[in-house]
Amino acid sequence: MEPAHWIQRWQEGRTGFHQNAPNQWLERFYPGLELKAGDSIFLPLCGKTVDLIWLAEQGQKVLGVELSPIAVEQFFNSNRLSAEQSSSDSGKFTKWESGSISLLEGDFFNLTRYDLQDCRAIFDRAALVALPFEMRQRYVEHLADNIAPDTKILLVTTDFIQEEKSPPPFAISDAEVHKLYDSRFEVLHLHSEDLSNSRDPLAKRGVSSLIENVYLCSMRK
Ligand SMILES: C[S@@+](CC[C@H](N)C(=O)[O-])C[C@H]1O[C@@H](n2cnc3c(N)ncnc32)[C@H](O)[C@@H]1O
Repeated sequence: MEPAHWIQRWQEGRTGFHQNAPNQWLERFYPGLELKAGDSIFLPLCGKTVDLIWLAEQGQKVLGVELSPIAVEQFFNSNRLSAEQSSSDSGKFTKWESGSISLLEGDFFNLTRYDLQDCRAIFDRAALVALPFEMRQRYVEHLADNIAPDTKILLVTTDFIQEEKSPPPFAISDAEVHKLYDSRFEVLHLHSEDLSNSRDPLAKRGVSSLIENVYLCSMRK
């Protein structure tokens, strides 16, 4: 989806993707990221996710990027954090900092190697699946071009019959994950969960079959 879509969604408060509790796959598979205390983890297209808080509580430095200033402001306000604002070195982002959490307000596609140089891991929940096909290819290439060679990605995707629900999110098959990541990453499938009869908002919106897949992608040396 183009930036204007997301800016408008936040203005209208249409944020059904937001979860009030930390993501269950992050909690379960976080040890596989093998982060040391103080290591930095990056959350692309982060919205106002509480995963940022959970990761900071595990002792990580946390960096997010988010297009919508409303999302960023709501994140700090709802967690009762006061943030200092400055312009990023590139001038492309407004940087909001509070303790070990930093959010870059601006467009993911303006991130550079310099912005991501400290990141040892990435958690992608509802980021890849928020983008249409041609943007997904650009997204993976942009990540791979700007992260350090030893970076690991914990990736959560959803797969369902796209015709049953207009995007976003976009349904992503296992085959597509491999097509997108295989050339730059070793892709390990960690888990599949059938959420068809769950309380997941997608399942409630008439999607007849809903599978969530979790992957660990390690950048090839
Ligand atoms: C589906 S939401 C997921 C948010 C978050 N990952 C979560 O789990 O709640 C996608 C988010 O990506 C943001 N976004 C979309 N395109 C972006 C871009 N090019 N750069 C930065 N953020 C973007 C949107 O504003 C929205 O908050």
